[in-house]
Amino acid sequence: MSLSRTLARPLRSLLVRSTTSLYKPCVRTIATAQASVSTSGSPKKLKALTQEQRDFLDSALRVNQAGELAAVLIYAAQSPILLRSKPHLRKLMTHMYDQEDGHFKTFNGLIHKHRIRPTALYPLWSVMATGLGWSTAMLGYEAAMACTEAVETEIGGHYNEQIRTLLEMVTQWEAEGYEVGEELSDLVKTLRVIRDEELEHLDHAVEHDAQKAEPHWLLTGVIRAGCRGAIWVSEKV
Ligand SMILES: [Fe+2]
Ligand SMILES: [Fe+2]
Repeated sequence: MSLSRTLARPLRSLLVRSTTSLYKPCVRTIATAQASVSTSGSPKKLKALTQEQRDFLDSALRVNQAGELAAVLIYAAQSPILLRSKPHLRKLMTHMYDQEDGHFKTFNGLIHKHRIRPTALYPLWSVMATGLGWSTAMLGYEAAMACTEAVETEIGGHYNEQIRTLLEMVTQWEAEGYEVGEELSDLVKTLRVIRDEELEHLDHAVEHDAQKAEPHWLLTGVIRAGCRGAIWVSEKV
């Protein structure tokens, strides 16, 4: 099966899912999920999340889902163009796409489970991510890799910040004698795995001539600034 056909099927289903989930109210969060764990037989006490912690988790999962959608769309737009001139990159592009698709499904599952509202700017990010993937691939192989370098640098740092915040939360609870719920522990593990995969993509891009893109500083600077802006907005809207 060609890569473009491989890409088309999950994209169609994810776009359908995204539009149907846009209007779900935020009626349940990880905090209430934790409470249900504590009442299902755990002998140790679990600490309820504060409103601030709930808001952090809601916005973290919302922005992660939006970011992974963007990653899927960037690779989907880049791959057909890139593979015409660099067919030997098929395995790499498929590998990175498959990992992004896995990340996206993970956060889709989490925001659906906890009834978290997706970003209201989902359609805008979809168009912009596809445009970014298409335009960098049209600029050439090095520019496409520079795009991956820039995006993964920002996303890797973004996941690191989330992991750090969650670990501070967990450390505080443990110091107070509370048990950390299974869901939160699993979330930290999941974020670490995904963060490592993003940084692996960054390494792949650098190994594949990302820094030979011209002008590299401008391209990566603009894309990194765009990523930071999109993250900031998606955390709120
Ligand atoms: Fe990802
Ligand atoms: Fe990635």
